[in-house]
Amino acid sequence: MATETVPNRKHNVTGARQAYYDKISKYDMAPLWEVLRNVVTKEPKSRCVPALWKYNDIKRLMLEAGDVITAEEAERRVLVLENPALRGESRATNTLFAGVQLIMPGEIAEVHRHASAAIRFVLDGEGAYTAVEGEKANMARGDFVLTPNWAPHDHGNPSDKPMLWLDVLDLPTVNHFETSFMEHFDEKTQETSRQDGDSLARYGSGVLPDGAPIELNRSPVINYTYTRTRPILERLKKAGDIDKRHGARVRYSNPINGGHVMPTMGAYLALFPKGFKGENYRSTDGTIFVCVEGGGTTKVEDQTLEWGPNDVFVVPPWKRYAHNAKDESVLFSISDRPAQELLGIWREGN
Ligand SMILES: [Fe+2]
Repeated sequence: MATETVPNRKHNVTGARQAYYDKISKYDMAPLWEVLRNVVTKEPKSRCVPALWKYNDIKRLMLEAGDVITAEEAERRVLVLENPALRGESRATNTLFAGVQLIMPGEIAEVHRHASAAIRFVLDGEGAYTAVEGEKANMARGDFVLTPNWAPHDHGNPSDKPMLWLDVLDLPTVNHFETSFMEHFDEKTQETSRQDGDSLARYGSGVLPDGAPIELNRSPVINYTYTRTRPILERLKKAGDIDKRHGARVRYSNPINGGHVMPTMGAYLALFPKGFKGENYRSTDGTIFVCVEGGGTTKVEDQTLEWGPNDVFVVPPWKRYAHNAKDESVLFSISDRPAQELLGIWREGN
């Protein structure tokens, strides 16, 4: 008898619950107990997946875009690197946008500004510029250029070669908070009064202009040039300052307070000696990597990403990964770690 009554009772309970759920649904309410385990997970469950974009594909397809749309028509001629699990959402990780921008010889990308902060990491070409906050920063391969939120910026390429760079923006973060603003200017380019390298010389030389603010939540440096940063990695390598997971690594910092370059995005540059076999690491910040030099692989859980110069790849949050360098290699990386740290939710582990 018991075997018959139990299913009936269950059926009745399920039916009664469903009737209750239907009733409260009309009032835009829902039972937390049905979804609690999905809402409050024991560990991070990222929507994004490991992904890699080969530079050969990026460049070939990007140059084709140069034939179909001008920089002026496009406003910014950018191909979005979309995480395969987040197609249609214009993002590489849940919080960061990544795209590759092309600017052909003689072109300009007109001045505008927006609430989203941006960085450029230069992949190819030399001699194009980004003008921001009155400084006209000439860009070369490996340079790391900042465009803080609401800073007017425009680009131009007076050189005779196409220039390509990786754009990373905190757009999904800003849109998550629904705080997006944007505006255009009457003029196409902004007046620049400060020479190339001005902010790096002023703020990145162990001194600060007297009277510089003691609090600034983002770096005043516009361009962290590769020619300045790369030799520091060499020094670390020679001194044996090589982390077993991250290699000989420096963090791009805000010289005002030693913090990250921006509140929403933080970046690193790391050298891995030839034959480096990294130990496992994981952290809650989904990370976008760019291979600047060399070649190797990154094992993300059971997937192996093989990278060479200018390839871009993504490691999702809280996935175990380890870098292996076939040749001496340099990797640039950027993530939302500063935002997570400010909110007190960042974690790392192995
Ligand atoms: Fe922009």
